[in-house]
Amino acid sequence: MKDYINPDFKHMLHGGDYNPDQWLHDPTILSEDMRLMKLANCNEMTLGIFAWAALEPEEGQFNFDWMDKAMDDIHAAGGKVILATPSGARPAWMAQKYPEVLRTTEQGIKKLDGGRHNHCFTSPVYREKVAIINRKLAERYKNHPALFAWHLSNEYGGECHCELCKQAFRVWLKEKYGTLENLNFQWWNSFWSHTFTDWNQINPPSSIGESKIHGLRLDWKRFVTAQTADFIRCEYNSVKAITPNVPATTNLTKFYLGLNHREIAKEVDFISWDSYPSWEGDDGDVDVARNTAMCHDLMRSLNKRPFFLMESTPSVVNWKPINKLKRPGMHMLSSLQAVAHGSDSVQYFQWRKSRGSYEKFHGAVVDHVGHENTRVFKDVQSVGARLQKLDEIVGTLVDAQVAILYDWENIWVLDMAAAFQRDDKKIIPTVNKFYDAFWNRGIDVDLIGTQDEDFSKYKAIFAPMQYLVSEELGKKLEAYVKNGGTLLCTYMTAMVNENDLCHLGGWPGAGLRKVFGIWNEEIDTLRPDEFNTVRLTDGSTVKAIDYCELIHREGAKVLANYDSDFYSGMPALTVNNYGKGKAYYVAFRDEGAFTDKIVGEILSETNVHSAFDGDLPQNVTAHSRTDGKNIYVFVENYNRSTVEIETTHTWITVDTDEKVTGKILLEPYETLIIKK
Ligand code: GLA
Ligand code: ZN
Repeated sequence: MKDYINPDFKHMLHGGDYNPDQWLHDPTILSEDMRLMKLANCNEMTLGIFAWAALEPEEGQFNFDWMDKAMDDIHAAGGKVILATPSGARPAWMAQKYPEVLRTTEQGIKKLDGGRHNHCFTSPVYREKVAIINRKLAERYKNHPALFAWHLSNEYGGECHCELCKQAFRVWLKEKYGTLENLNFQWWNSFWSHTFTDWNQINPPSSIGESKIHGLRLDWKRFVTAQTADFIRCEYNSVKAITPNVPATTNLTKFYLGLNHREIAKEVDFISWDSYPSWEGDDGDVDVARNTAMCHDLMRSLNKRPFFLMESTPSVVNWKPINKLKRPGMHMLSSLQAVAHGSDSVQYFQWRKSRGSYEKFHGAVVDHVGHENTRVFKDVQSVGARLQKLDEIVGTLVDAQVAILYDWENIWVLDMAAAFQRDDKKIIPTVNKFYDAFWNRGIDVDLIGTQDEDFSKYKAIFAPMQYLVSEELGKKLEAYVKNGGTLLCTYMTAMVNENDLCHLGGWPGAGLRKVFGIWNEEIDTLRPDEFNTVRLTDGSTVKAIDYCELIHREGAKVLANYDSDFYSGMPALTVNNYGKGKAYYVAFRDEGAFTDKIVGEILSETNVHSAFDGDLPQNVTAHSRTDGKNIYVFVENYNRSTVEIETTHTWITVDTDEKVTGKILLEPYETLIIKK
């Protein structure tokens, strides 16, 4: 079974953001682009991002000539086009004529025109203008043979606090809560005399106004996601009404916390994202590799289909404090890493470096020198050549047997909680630590949400710091364990519900106390210079840092105890048999080695293995994709030295069609792609 993003073109896509609109004054550049595109082994261009001023220079006056030519030329060169809607930045005439399209800050200041992503997502004028240009594009290119997919806008983000948005927020709240009485209760507004008696008294959170009602802050974040999703829906509908069979995506950004990506994912046909890791050519690259791997898995898990690496740099970015070049070999490795995790494309920002303005020094396939004799161009060429040999992997899926819970709402509420380490509870780094344990063992893992997921397909679920647990999620987790699943939770589990109201009756709440067989009475937050020691039943010890929960056994088996302080002797690690399953509770934070160990033990207990049969040396990992029959394994070497791996199977290399078995040498930064 394969799942193609566009079944009309079953190849890995290789290309990137292309802005001929910056070069219309020089037709020789445009023809060079087509020659170079073929030479670079590219088969795709993402056209029209930020091209609104070139498409509609004055209100209602459209100019598609240049785009017609670009579409035709790319097609003639054998390429496909991912066509962008231009809503990421506006032409200057619009705000001049319709100031309502401008964004208002959280302090109520109306922004000036300029930059990008500086528009109100509620504004009817903006929505109408976007719909007009989108329909024009769709009408014009609906039958164009190069059209592969839609790229809706560009990295949606931010929020607007204008009157239109405030009103929309109030309507959203009314729909959600029905009555003010209910809203006041769910937000606990009797605290500090915050009871609202009129819907118009409610404003979005602001640093110069209300910032302490956590229910309000949480709902505002949900509203911003809902309003952005609604805006995306308008964009989606405007093109899909005309081109129902052309798949649509929008490019997401990493762990961006401004939007709940799980909701945004529902608005598009396929997921794509922009990846800019800081590869530095030193030992730190392995952490970068793990973190990037986790992002790829998170993005893939949003809809469990192949995704696109919509943007990456072939060399360097321009916006980090220190913008280092990718070392030789890293471009190939990092590109194939995306494919290993489920991407069916390797794409760049950008094709050709701009001559002026902010991004003129951002890496690109074609540099200011203008020809193909550059290191970067050759790197791109080699990636393209390799991707051309991976047709049979296009459309294959990742079949993970284990999952980590990754829930935006949970991160939001935990981040805002005035408690513990108030300003940084390090939830994402904690998830990273869990993720690393899978990466180190070459085990495929999904990063799943809490609501629309089928937990039963996973042999084990890991839910670090899942502080927000609704009654519904509590029941779902309980059923998962009862039916045979293995669940691991940590300190701070199930403390609040979906409205950020604390669970009463002892933590972990939402019915999980009996599942874990413990009661968590208190949390001790340690200073950075402090630690406790945890003694495991096998006699070994672990350093506990940051958080130590004081838990009581209520039927669970104790696997470790604290060794010092006034809670010395109390349980620090427990496991409970519940129904047909098991629930582990880790009451403390460790520096990472223990997390790695406990995950490893649970993986062997639940019989979860890497798709690669041999041992993986340090800094080498393996990830797999499958069509249900064949398993494709990517073995990635992040060492700057040659390492040896060994297998007892006989594999076939996908790109060179050779048999490999026994001892295999992996060159520095090499990715071996094999199947069985
Ligand atoms: C983002 C944007 C691009 C470009 C790159 C630069 O991902 O989508 O337009 O600005 O960053 O790295
Ligand atoms: Zn607004």
